[in-house]
This record gives sequence, C-alpha cells and structure tokens, in this order.
Amino acid sequence: MFARPWGFWRGTPNMAHLPPITGVEIAFAGRSNVGKSSLINALVGQNSLARTSNTPGRTQELNFFHVPPVDGEPTDLVIVDMPGYGFAAAPEAKVREWQKLIRDYLRGRQSLARVYVLVDARHGIKPVDTEVFDELGQSGISYQVVLTKADQITDAALTKLIATTLDQLKKRAAAFPEIIATSSRKGQGMPELRSAIARVVAE
Ligand code: GTP
Ligand code: MG
Repeated sequence: MFARPWGFWRGTPNMAHLPPITGVEIAFAGRSNVGKSSLINALVGQNSLARTSNTPGRTQELNFFHVPPVDGEPTDLVIVDMPGYGFAAAPEAKVREWQKLIRDYLRGRQSLARVYVLVDARHGIKPVDTEVFDELGQSGISYQVVLTKADQITDAALTKLIATTLDQLKKRAAAFPEIIATSSRKGQGMPELRSAIARVVAE
C-alpha cells in the first residue's frame, strides 16, 4: 500500500465537503509544527505530497490523500493531514475554526480507524495533547502516540521519554500501548509506522 504513488485527493475547510467514504481512514493530529505533514511525506516516500513549513499553521484544511484508484478498484487506505492545534501564526478566529474542524472530524467520521497523535520528542506530552486524548477516549476512537523529530534528542533521552510517555498513557484505554519514535528527516521509525498502519487496515 505504500509502494504505489500517492496523490492529493481533496482539501476541505469544513465538514460539509468531506470526500465520500471509500475505505479505512487514518488521521495525523498534533500541535502546530509538530511535523504531521512531514511525517506523511516520509511515510509514503514522497517529498512534496503534503505541504510543510517552518511556520506553525501551515496546514489549514483537512487534506485527504490516497492512491488514485485504477479501474474502479477500491482504495484501501486514506490518509488525512489536519491543521495543528495550539499556537499557530494565524489569526485567532482561524485557529478557533481549525479547532472546531478537528474536533468535528475526529468525533464524527465513521471511517476513521485510528488517529496518530504526534508529539514532539523535544517537548513530550503537553496539556493540549491530553485534552485531545480525553476527547478521543470519550468518542471511543483508538489512537497511538508517535514521537516526532527524534533526531533532535539523544538516544538516552529518547529511551527515557518513551518510558515516561507510556506511563502517562497507561490509564487511557483508547491509547494503543506502544509508542513509535520517528524522524522524518532521517527516516527513523517509518518501517514500524508502516506496519502499524498495515495492521489497522487488516483489522
Ligand atoms: P502545521 O501544518 O503548521 O500544523 O505543521 P506540521 O505539524 O504539519 O509540521 P510540518 O511537517 O510542516 O513541519 C514543521 C517543521 O518541522 C518543518 O520546518 C519541518 O522541516 C520540521 N520537521 C518535521 N519533521 C522533522 C524531523 O523529523 N526532524 C526535524 N529535525 N525537523 C522536522
Ligand atoms: Mg501540516
């Protein structure tokens, strides 16, 4: 499923224009600038599929990606990039709109099989992340924490962070009890993330 070229399918700023449900959907959530779009690119091995930026607030819509279907064959997986939550270099009204979009989508999308909640390895879980964990848990949506930018900390610090992060999640039933540490820059963790996704699709 990651061997074929991926394409941009649709971007939408609101719930009225979601694409039709075609198969399993997985979404990448996380604070602005955590590396969601970069991780999607690293995952599929295409540098410019999702747009990335140094400035928090780059992704401003729900962006849907898939392998364009050939000869009416059904799509097995749809990947969704989302705006970030938390601070962004954008007007407050926009940021509020994104929060609503993220919340509505996460709560109301029937085909959403798993959410990957990205956490910057330099910062760990922040209160705004735990709010998202709470909401996902209340909606019964399973999620898995993925650490990003692992290239920015030492191996020892990463090992420690994985242990503390697991500990922070242990009372949360909807949290998958495994942390994937990644670096989009170095390709670290991509095979693990691909197999995790393949397992979700096969479920
Ligand atoms: P928004 O769409 O604004 O919410 O951001 P995002 O979460 O999609 O982050 P994006 O992928 O645009 O990356 C943000 C910044 O982090 C960019 O400058 C990336 O180059 C950088 N970045 C992303 N992944 C990594 C990584 O694995 N290592 C390092 N060192 N930098 C990274
Ligand atoms: Mg983005």
